[in-house]
Amino acid sequence: MCGIVGYIGKRDVAPLLLEGLQRLEYRGYDSAGIVITGKAAAGRPGTLKMVKAKGRVRELEAKVPKRFAGTTGIAHTRWATHGAPSDENAHPHMDAENKVAVVHNGIIDNASELRTRLTADGVVFLSETDTEVLTHLIARAQADTLEEKVREALRHVEGTYGIAVLHADFNDRIVVARNGSPVVLGIGEKEMFVASDVAALVAHTRQVVTLDDGEMATLKADDFRTYTTEGSTTTATPTTVEWEAESYDMGGHDTYMHKEISEQADAVDRVLRGRIDDRFSTVHLGGLNLDAREARGVRRIKILGCGTSYHAGQIGAQLIEELARIPADAEPASEFRYRNPVVDPDTLYVAVSQSGETYDVLAAVQELKRKGARVLGVVNVVGSAIAREADGGTYVHAGPEVCVVSTKCFTNTVVAFALLALHLGRIRDLSVADGKRIIDGLRRLPEQISEILAGEDEIKRLAAEYADAKSMMFIGRVRGYPVAREASLKLKEVSYIHAEAYPASELKHGPLALIEPAMPTVAIVPDDDLLEKNRAAMEEIKARSGRILAVAHQVQEKADHTIVVPKNENELDPILMGIPLQLFAYHTALAMGRDIDKPRNLAKSVTVE
Ligand code: G6P
Repeated sequence: MCGIVGYIGKRDVAPLLLEGLQRLEYRGYDSAGIVITGKAAAGRPGTLKMVKAKGRVRELEAKVPKRFAGTTGIAHTRWATHGAPSDENAHPHMDAENKVAVVHNGIIDNASELRTRLTADGVVFLSETDTEVLTHLIARAQADTLEEKVREALRHVEGTYGIAVLHADFNDRIVVARNGSPVVLGIGEKEMFVASDVAALVAHTRQVVTLDDGEMATLKADDFRTYTTEGSTTTATPTTVEWEAESYDMGGHDTYMHKEISEQADAVDRVLRGRIDDRFSTVHLGGLNLDAREARGVRRIKILGCGTSYHAGQIGAQLIEELARIPADAEPASEFRYRNPVVDPDTLYVAVSQSGETYDVLAAVQELKRKGARVLGVVNVVGSAIAREADGGTYVHAGPEVCVVSTKCFTNTVVAFALLALHLGRIRDLSVADGKRIIDGLRRLPEQISEILAGEDEIKRLAAEYADAKSMMFIGRVRGYPVAREASLKLKEVSYIHAEAYPASELKHGPLALIEPAMPTVAIVPDDDLLEKNRAAMEEIKARSGRILAVAHQVQEKADHTIVVPKNENELDPILMGIPLQLFAYHTALAMGRDIDKPRNLAKSVTVE
């Protein structure tokens, strides 16, 4: 989604900001813009210089004039919400006198009402955006300082925002504010950065301060201060980002998706590292903030997430039921928060998110906290909003994930759930022997993942075989069903081939009507107690002349093709069975010439509703 980057210091700001925007490209956007403060003559206010362009950052770069010098600036990649992608609607937005410039992530809910009021007062709008309303409010604010002007403007605004503001009359500072959309300050040596995502900062500094909702900050070249939107000072101690700038590079791969799929053996190794306790056949999850007595008191677990994280949560729920025998289920966070959920004191809520910033998940967490629930986070980005809102949780340590479609983070999240399930299980009824069995299985995962990835050429060949399909069916049963759902999502996200996922048992209740030679089926067929049932489902498909690609632990006679994956413990099989289908989706999309890392219409991190 939208990205913000800003800088104040001594360096030439434009190249720095353009590079920052490039680092945010992965989030998905449709236009970009930059504004800088020109050099101020002694005692005279500076001037703001702005360039905006529909399209990619490189198109913006091409429009930036040769003489575009300055040492303070803010820039933005926009994802259209109010008004189509265009030069005019791109951020920054300025007032009529070119004094105030604003970049904004989020949505101003009462923008049209404010626009009507401002128009009646004689303000002429140049764009259709909600953000421009903010610009005019700041420009018209009566207060003496920029901080107070911004605060005064924000008092009129309902909705979510992460903003950065430049003002020609206050050109020694950038003022930023956060409510619902991430804002991270980067602390340098006599220079300060701001961004909506650490990805834009880590090449320059790894010292960061993440703002809380309702917090603002003033950045000057040699210091910063944070305070609330009401004006009281807050304390902000910089923390160090673990991820290196190089982790955001492509590392010799043609796409981030391929790089991230290939990294999964190492990533899984990382989520396991230091957590296994062989003595008690359990795991340590230091950040849960849930002691054994409290864990025993949990009667139910509700997992909330969106997209791929929701699917990881579905597998997580199954692992918890199997290993800890606690009733558990997963639900899309977006649905949960709108149905006035019954919040039960004995239920443990788990919010799952790669970015830790997905608005629907964050809003669900905030609603739960307001109702007094205990919420854990299973999150990838350290220090993100959901991680900080939650009462405790665990990081999934997948490393930065840049491709819009999630792969390695999905796998690591499921492994993190296996750890949580094992931990809860060993506090309750899971035996030492079973604990050891699961631990041994977890330890086998990295090598088995490498084995699956080594079969890439064969999967590529199969992808070519099925790439002519207009539509595909994915089926699985119990442990295999969430795998089928995630695999179907992967295929549609990246190749745009229509795909449906159904429990294999539901086929005969409707979707069987779709089966014909032009509608191939991918069947998830683990070697477990449901093997015969899955074979029967394949039989039903074959009888209707459907083509079948099976993902299984042994060659399936009923299938036209089988991708054989290594067997692990039954409970852990879903972790491995999805991986070849990530490659399948990747190679299908590649053969079709798709924009793999940035599929159309999608964003990596959806920080608005
Ligand atoms: C977006 C992305 C998906 C992702 C979902 C949840 O829709 O396109 O790939 O699964 O958000 O993101 P999160 O960061 O919360 O895991």
